[in-house]
Amino acid sequence: MRILVVGGGGREHAVVWKLAQNPSVEKIYCAPGNGGISSLAQCISIKATDIEGIKAFSKENNIDLVVVTPDDPLAAGMVDELEKEGIRAFGPKKDAAIIEWSKSFAKDLMKKYNIPTARYEVFDNSKDAIGYLSHQKFPIVVKADGLALGKGVIIAQNFEEAREAVYSIMDEKTFGEAGNRIVIEEFLVGQEVSILAFTDGKTIVPMVSSQDHKRALDGDRGLNTGGMGTFSPSRIYTSEIAQYCMENIFRPTVNAMNMENRKFKGVLYFGLILTDDGPKVLEYNARFGDPETQVVLPRLKSDLLEIFNAVIDERLDEVKVEWDDRAAVCVIMASGGYPQKYQTGYEIEGINEAEKEQDIIVFHAGTRFENGRYYTAGGRVLGVTAMDDTLDGAIKKAYEGVGKINFKDAHYRRDIGIK
Ligand code: AMP
Ligand code: GLY
Repeated sequence: MRILVVGGGGREHAVVWKLAQNPSVEKIYCAPGNGGISSLAQCISIKATDIEGIKAFSKENNIDLVVVTPDDPLAAGMVDELEKEGIRAFGPKKDAAIIEWSKSFAKDLMKKYNIPTARYEVFDNSKDAIGYLSHQKFPIVVKADGLALGKGVIIAQNFEEAREAVYSIMDEKTFGEAGNRIVIEEFLVGQEVSILAFTDGKTIVPMVSSQDHKRALDGDRGLNTGGMGTFSPSRIYTSEIAQYCMENIFRPTVNAMNMENRKFKGVLYFGLILTDDGPKVLEYNARFGDPETQVVLPRLKSDLLEIFNAVIDERLDEVKVEWDDRAAVCVIMASGGYPQKYQTGYEIEGINEAEKEQDIIVFHAGTRFENGRYYTAGGRVLGVTAMDDTLDGAIKKAYEGVGKINFKDAHYRRDIGIK
């Protein structure tokens, strides 16, 4: 079995690490990969969005399976294009990935099929949007419709801020075409939980729960980031809530996509908020989350390749998906300055020492491997994952791992898992 994983972050490192555990896997390639991935897979310099490049490489190298992990190639229809060429691919097609790449589509779907979510309106021009804002309560949430690297959501505290957000997204096109349309929605209060689920369009297998920490600084202060750390399981996502979500959110969503002729096959990510009114959907993603994957996959006892194949062949009901009861915590070590300006190219020390500890895995996000050494190469650099019988134990272990690793200006939160 020869596999090509598309992407090059911490999430892809976790996917490659898990796939490599299957003995029938002969070779893994990763495009473009990163320094850490290069110890498990051959990294090739093809961009994750280069559909033609991925297609050509897969044909020339007899790839048996392409795993398309990031949002943008999914939104661009990479899975459709590979399948047209007879290349087996894991991930939703473009018309199903729309559940992530158009927030207005996702909101209209939830309204039509009675899936709990924040009240909202969709606008195609700034004049109507601002007219609507003039008689709303604040805070309110303004969202660019399309993909915006996780930055297209603005929580406006008052009318002025909301108007600024609308101008910036729709008229100044801060997020490009993604801002041709916007969603304005009710501000919800509650803790956020991420549920990733495998689905083949018929069967839904939710993975273990996790929680992300989006803000850069301790105590959820500072700017929004791609995620500064995760833990699994969530302390607040009880089995009663899980059952409610299965009946009122997960199954209705998969059924709704079938009703719309957009069968979803792949990983469907439910970004939930647990409000006093019950769980509601904040967003859908059409893929594994980053850094949720770095705490979820280490807890997966079953074989990931077997699950991917079952999803593609629509026989997920035949697979037993089992989980490790232990907790997992991932602390992201970022470049100083992230998510704003930062320097790269600093040598990283201590990764091997950290990994000598049992149950610590260092997933690389932005690193480069050169002449036997690792160097920083991105905003989020590493995700140090630890497992233990309890969440508190896993937190302690993860920070012990972090303490062994050094690079100039490294920044990490000290409160991951404490929510
Ligand atoms: P999204 O990409 O839609 O998940 O939004 C990014 C983040 O913005 C979420 O993880 C929440 O922290 C916040 N957010 C989005 N929508 C709302 C909402 N309706 N109420 C409160 N916070 C929200
Ligand atoms: N951790 C959030 C995401 O992957 O979108």
